[in-house]
Amino acid sequence: MHMSKKFKRTLITSALPYANGPVHIGHLAGVYVPADIYARYLRLKGEEVLFIGGSDEHGIPITIKARKEGVTPQDIVDRYHGLIKKSFAEFGITFDIYSRTTSDIHRETASDFFRTLYDKGEFREQESEQYYDEEAGQFLADRYITGTCPHCGNENAYGDQCEQCGTSLSPNDLINPKSTLSGSAPVMRTTKHWYLPLDKHEAWLREWILEDHKEWKTNVYGQCKSWLDLGLQPRAVSRDLDWGVPVPVEGAEGKVLYVWFDAPIGYISNTKELLPNDWERWWKEEETKLVHFIGKDNIVFHCIVFPAMLKAEGSYILPENVPANEFLNLEGDKISTSRNWAVWLHEYLEEFPGKQDVLRYVLTANAPETKDNDFTWKDFQARNNNELVAVLGNFVNRALVLTQKYFDNKVPAPGELTQYDRDTIAEAKLIKQAVEQQLENYHFREAQKEAMNLARIGNKYLADTEPWKTAKTDMERTATILNIALQITANLAIVIEPFLPFTAEKLLSFLRSGHLSWNQLGDFNLLPAGHLLEKPHLLFEKIEDEVVEKQIQKLHDTKIANEASEQKAKPIKGTVQFDAFEKLDIRVGTVLECEKVPKADKLLRFLLDDGLQKRTILSGIAAYYPNPQELVGRQVCFVANLEPRKMRGILSEGMILSAEDVDGSLALVTPTKTVNPGSPVV
Ligand code: 2FM
Ligand code: ZN
Repeated sequence: MHMSKKFKRTLITSALPYANGPVHIGHLAGVYVPADIYARYLRLKGEEVLFIGGSDEHGIPITIKARKEGVTPQDIVDRYHGLIKKSFAEFGITFDIYSRTTSDIHRETASDFFRTLYDKGEFREQESEQYYDEEAGQFLADRYITGTCPHCGNENAYGDQCEQCGTSLSPNDLINPKSTLSGSAPVMRTTKHWYLPLDKHEAWLREWILEDHKEWKTNVYGQCKSWLDLGLQPRAVSRDLDWGVPVPVEGAEGKVLYVWFDAPIGYISNTKELLPNDWERWWKEEETKLVHFIGKDNIVFHCIVFPAMLKAEGSYILPENVPANEFLNLEGDKISTSRNWAVWLHEYLEEFPGKQDVLRYVLTANAPETKDNDFTWKDFQARNNNELVAVLGNFVNRALVLTQKYFDNKVPAPGELTQYDRDTIAEAKLIKQAVEQQLENYHFREAQKEAMNLARIGNKYLADTEPWKTAKTDMERTATILNIALQITANLAIVIEPFLPFTAEKLLSFLRSGHLSWNQLGDFNLLPAGHLLEKPHLLFEKIEDEVVEKQIQKLHDTKIANEASEQKAKPIKGTVQFDAFEKLDIRVGTVLECEKVPKADKLLRFLLDDGLQKRTILSGIAAYYPNPQELVGRQVCFVANLEPRKMRGILSEGMILSAEDVDGSLALVTPTKTVNPGSPVV
């Protein structure tokens, strides 16, 4: 049975996001908001907490993106690490450190960790046959191999998965495999790798998870159980790749640590970077409660692989809990970076300035804690308008405005309490324990609901006691009511802080109060009589239909664009004889002049040097080249022997060739290097 231990401090880690794209609402909802709520709550209680974050900067997808863009993997991670770090900071995610796995200290820490396990004989070395690209001179990661899917015949299936039919593949399954590096057919070659023998760890893992941690969330426990029941296999912890932490062993040239080996060690390296002389206390003392916040796709690595690594090393503690979340969908579809189906945090921050708490609130209210959930803009609007504005904002505003009106903005001294007052206070005092209990069990959406209940209690209290009426006859009663309402407001400033930190800060400034701690929650003497308040301002504003409709339209446009780009190329036209082709005289010309044809929106007039003379050709591509003069000096391909045609009073002597994209847009066809004007296209 799980024994509840006495911990002295909490080490919170949050999954290190891959630095190959910006972060979106799914990241925030699944990992960073709950981790931040937890960290803020414990800090507010005065506990010792460390909250570790950072970017995961290794792995194949980063090298693929770099190759596609013609830049280095380092360029990619530099770009996104900065963007991700900034987005998190602006959403008030209070990491104690947000570092990266390309730091020197990380490379050294991960390398040493591997070396320790290696020296202790904790790995198995094994040779295997793997695809190798002889032209590129390197082994191929599964993603670098494409071929025909044996299940559906898709000719562009990847070595790890066919995206058309969704089947998981291994490179050996592909028919006619091809290297995406050189296009050549890869050959099998022997390579050596180091394996973590998870089979050897299975027995203690079973006991530790299935017996000692029955309290883990059912989605986490269930996933672990099915892995364990299937039987654990050794896992390779090295790869043949030139991006990552080099394997620190002789004879391992050209090999790096597998990204899932080095990434979780990033939690340790980042702690070290922050506390070079004190980090071991956080990682090696049993009094530390280690909690990993992650998404469901990371469960096996955090509950099985990383613990096995830590245990094999021998001097580290194991996680006490891994409160993994399920996924957040967007308007009914899976969030996807490559399909641009996401609400990007950096875009939200630009389009909804000052509304970080609204998104934090909605994501927590709708958190995918037990099952996948859906984010919709209509729900976003409804929760803002019906909950933040109508409940929280409305209560606080009424308490403050009435105090301004009847008591000159000073906290009135309470008179005698009625039974109803006492009941209200008693009910309000219960909130503390209710929120705590939910938070201690990682039930963040319930916890936030309980916190909001305090505002509901306040609203009901004002509606029932009607201070605007008592003010006509009984100022003492009015003073009592508003004193209680203001004490509730001060309590709200405490209880909402973990969830809505920007709003809590505003509230404290309205109340002209200094820092309040969690332990003061339930205190109804937080604001002394006579204390002067700030003039009231609104906490939240209504979000209008147009605003969310604009966002819905933006997603709609994305969908259309995705559908267009997924369309197959047009079918090939009927065959022609070679001499039919030969009759066409296609040549390269250099652009001498290029300008819009007056009163014809589509046409550009080109003057080309065709090697023999100057030639005028009209082309209907004006929409795609808004600055036609920029084309001067470029080379284009044109049909030289097309019968001339008069358009808009101008004789067009030929046709310029363009490629038509799926969306119908046109791009000029141009030689990859400058050739003599008049060169034939053969
Ligand atoms: O799934 C991911 O985005 C991984 N980059 C998470 C890594 S978590 C930890 F191990 F660093
Ligand atoms: Zn397939």
